[in-house]
Amino acid sequence: MKLFDVYPLFNIEIEKGIGSRTYDKQGVEYLDLYGGHAVISVGHSHPFFVQKLTHQVEKLIFYSNSVINKFQVELAEKLGKQSGYEDYNLFLTNSGAEANENALKLASFHNGKKKIIAFEKSFHGRTSAAVKVTDNPKIVAPVNDGLEVEFFPLNDIKGVKQSLEKGDVCAVIIEGIQGIGGIKIPEAAFLQELSNVCKATGTILIVDEIQSGYCRSGKFFAHQYAGIRPDLITVAKGMGNGYPIGGVLISPAFEASHGLLGTTFGGNHLACVAAIAVLDILKAEHLVENAEKVGNYLMKELKNIPQIKEVRGLGLMIGLEFDYPVKEIRNLLLYEQKVFTGATGTNIIRLLPPLCLSLDDAKLFLEKLKAVL
Ligand SMILES: Cc1ncc(COP(=O)(O)O)c(C=O)c1O
Repeated sequence: MKLFDVYPLFNIEIEKGIGSRTYDKQGVEYLDLYGGHAVISVGHSHPFFVQKLTHQVEKLIFYSNSVINKFQVELAEKLGKQSGYEDYNLFLTNSGAEANENALKLASFHNGKKKIIAFEKSFHGRTSAAVKVTDNPKIVAPVNDGLEVEFFPLNDIKGVKQSLEKGDVCAVIIEGIQGIGGIKIPEAAFLQELSNVCKATGTILIVDEIQSGYCRSGKFFAHQYAGIRPDLITVAKGMGNGYPIGGVLISPAFEASHGLLGTTFGGNHLACVAAIAVLDILKAEHLVENAEKVGNYLMKELKNIPQIKEVRGLGLMIGLEFDYPVKEIRNLLLYEQKVFTGATGTNIIRLLPPLCLSLDDAKLFLEKLKAVL
């Protein structure tokens, strides 16, 4: 059997990772400004993380959601405290798409409506709220399973308001910071007004913090810069530092009942142990503060590089927009300078490094980028 060929691949095989570095099978070291697509939060193979997972693998990897799992309880308590959502409830999933699917389901169970509002160039995984995210004409959007999706430009409060006031919208789903859409930050005033209109019209506000959450923005969640409290918040990626886990943070207005939601693997013992270790490390090593400090430094320095048209971002979620395609710059960074970066569209480099990236590593990246430019 061959692999179903859906991913364009770099000709590199990564075998090992430590902190903000990865190593290929020839032992070549790479500086990781990509974090495996915003997944590596506390750093590759963090010793505490490895120790906790190894210990749990030897005891129990999985049992079903039909028995008490103390790790789920501990994870919910710690996540509530660290994120500022102690009064919310947690439903655990395996991925970001699954978290968003469950959030959309919860919203429509709650108010019985079917229509969803999302934003142009948003991405919510391969879900009912998916948007056309590539230029591949075979990928059409939305992938509809009964929910009707209407798209508005980001920050278009007038358009969204007009639609919400008709009273037939189930939920608005919005990314804390648009990732694939090019690191676009919703304006604070827009989010505040959106939250108010949602409340006034009985619409559920879902903030997708799958890429922008888990301390990447310099706050636990990016929407906390605007001081809003969404009804549902979805998380994944950095939550397990590479071990697959996701979740929905659910406001106390939602009532749970047995069978309402469910999953086989979501919240399994090993995934929860991974997620608890991540929260412990984020706290002990002050990584939210590090993301803010190193991110601010990087953005300040990047803004002084004349070849870059625009630098956007918060914390360690940074987009560098050029006037021309970035493919060659990224290839030179990777193959010559041994630096992993991400991209979105043709002209934007995306930086999503581990949140433990040091100031020295940030300086090293700047040197390497300048050398390439
Ligand atoms: C904002 C956002 N939402 C949802 C997803 C989907 O997550 P997953 O790939 O874990 O299904 C992604 C993945 O890139 C994402 O960036």
